[in-house]
Parts: sequence; structure tokens; C-alpha cells
Amino acid sequence: MTQDELKTLVGQAALQYVIPGEIVGVGTGSTVNKFIDALAALKDQIPGAVSSSEASTARLKALGIRVFEANAVGNIAVYIDGADEIDAQGFMVKGGGAALTREKIVAAQSARFVCIADESKLVKTLGAFPLPVEIIQMACARLVRQFEALGAQARVRLKEGVPLVTDNGQHILDVTGLQITDPLAFESQVNQWPGVVTVGVFAHQKASVCLLGTADGVKTLTFQS
Ligand code: 5RP
Repeated sequence: MTQDELKTLVGQAALQYVIPGEIVGVGTGSTVNKFIDALAALKDQIPGAVSSSEASTARLKALGIRVFEANAVGNIAVYIDGADEIDAQGFMVKGGGAALTREKIVAAQSARFVCIADESKLVKTLGAFPLPVEIIQMACARLVRQFEALGAQARVRLKEGVPLVTDNGQHILDVTGLQITDPLAFESQVNQWPGVVTVGVFAHQKASVCLLGTADGVKTLTFQS
């Protein structure tokens, strides 16, 4: 199976976690796009979705799925999103699609995080994928130095030759050279640095379940809370 077919498989498998009558939290990315497309079949069974990006909002609306503001709803039962990396504890690196801040907000509002990913995303230690960090531009040079002090290299993410601007009007640093052996501590540490909006380690908002697309079908990994 191709990676795209594995994404379709897990996107469809995630439908079993959608609760009729309940708003669903929706992440961002190519795997989530498969989920959104599948969700259209259930659109009359749910009030709608809370979305983590302008891109997902547009896709949901185009399929006739109502989108609610996070502030307009209470707790969300289930949040469904992809990951750039996930480990055996359910800790993740996210933000390859630059939507990490809103993703973490919707994840924090949700009781369960269902991660959908193809098997290439399962890793032993987080950090091989460049870690996305959404930052305030004024702090950029100092944050680059702070990552250098950890032995890592941080670069501003570019789009068409200029710094990418997120849905929140901010920039992204992509950080290479990390081995994140204690994701909970690392997330807390970097989130304390002035100028960091959100670090793309999702340890405090880790996955409850991962639907992993493999050559043998969908494997369900369940994590301790
Ligand atoms: C977007 C994300 C995505 O979930 C992550 O990048 C995985 O994307 P894809 O499903 O396209 O591989 O965190 O900010």
C-alpha cells in the first residue's frame, strides 16, 4: 500500500471514534484531510466540528460540515489529528503543517486525542523530524541561540522564499539535531522561553489512542493516561 492509501485507511478508521450527537475536534494535514472527507458521510449525525486551522475549516465547510468556534462550545469528547512523529507512550511531534498552536488548543479542550498516522510516523525517540516551534518574531534570534545552546539548529520556516506566516500571524522555527528523551520536561522547558507561542511537542496533550496504518491494516495503539 502507498503512504496515501495508508492515510485513507486510518482516516476512514477514525470514524468509529466520532460520537453521534457530539461535536468533533478536527486537526490539520494530509491524513486529517482523508478523515474530513470520510466524515462527510456522518455529517447529519453530528452538530459539527471545531477546527484547528483555516485549511481544515475550509475543507469542512466545503463538505457541508458546520464549524464552531472553540469558545462557543464546552468540552469536546474526541479530537482527531495526525502527527509527524509518535512514540510508544503516545507522545508526539506535530506542526509540520504549521497549525500546532490551534491543534494544541483544541486537543486541550478534548477528552480524548485519537492520532491517525501511517507507520512511518512511529519512532523510538522523538526528534528526527525537525521540531516546529511557533514564535513571536521579535524573539527569533535569541530563541535560535537558546536552541544552539542545547546543541540544536533552528531555522525560520520559509514559504516561497519569505518567512511562513501562521494562521495566528506568527512565524515557525524548525529545529533539528534534537533527541527528545523526556518529552514532558522538554515541552515544559521550551514553553517557558519568552517568545515561544507553542512548541510542537505534544506530551502534556498526548494521544489517547493511535490508529496506525500498516501493510497489515490498521493497528490500534492505546496509551496510559
Ligand atoms: C499539522 C500537523 C499534522 O498533523 C502533521 O504535520 C502530520 O501531517 P500529515 O498528516 O500531512 O503527515 O501537525 O500542523
